[in-house]
Amino acid sequence: MGVTRWVLKSAQQALPEEAEEPVRDAPDADPAHADLDTLRQMVEVCTRCPLHRGRRRAVFGTGPRTAPFMVIGEGPGAQEDARGEPFVGRAGRLLDAMFVAMGVPRDSVYIANIVKCRPPNNRDPRPDEVASCAGWLRRQIELVRPRAILAVGRVAAQNLLSSSLSLGRLRGRVHSYGSPPLPVVVTYHPAYLLRSPHDKGKAWQDLKRLRELTGSGP
Ligand code: URA
Ligand code: SF4
Repeated sequence: MGVTRWVLKSAQQALPEEAEEPVRDAPDADPAHADLDTLRQMVEVCTRCPLHRGRRRAVFGTGPRTAPFMVIGEGPGAQEDARGEPFVGRAGRLLDAMFVAMGVPRDSVYIANIVKCRPPNNRDPRPDEVASCAGWLRRQIELVRPRAILAVGRVAAQNLLSSSLSLGRLRGRVHSYGSPPLPVVVTYHPAYLLRSPHDKGKAWQDLKRLRELTGSGP
């Protein structure tokens, strides 16, 4: 299936609002022994960094805990902040189309972000905000234990890999994260691909690399 088939689909239907009462605020909550459900509850009330002040909803992440790979983006945008789910805006629909091209439905992939709350005006998250949020993502990765990680965009790749190299320098080879090491493939952010569709071919190479590493898809 060719990359030129990646087209935007119509907006997905909004999911019903969660009726659950939020758990108490717990700024000193320790993620070390939390399961995914508890971790989500901790994140939804997290006040560890100033980004909590502007959020409508924290965006913990979605997907099965048995997902073969995990996609990590930068942080929620306006639509994600409103819905409480990652990658549900325009960029998300392109991401979905990329998964379809790989033969992998979105709901079989675990999707999360470097920061769980939306930075004002979609600015890059600041180093202190990333550092405050890192423990949530670290535990999330530990619990899902994917076979590989796909880092989308410069902010995700640099923070995950503790690197200041450009995206162009980071993509094209397999990196590793954590211990025991998980392979990390770096690719373009779908929002960038919407502006620069000529790079979809390179993104497709990255996805094929990811598929080889995880054995996902046809
Ligand atoms: N961009 C991201 O990096 N993450 C999202 O969840 C949405 C857009
Ligand atoms: Fe907490 Fe992360 Fe949200 Fe900051 S961005 S308040 S650390 S969940």
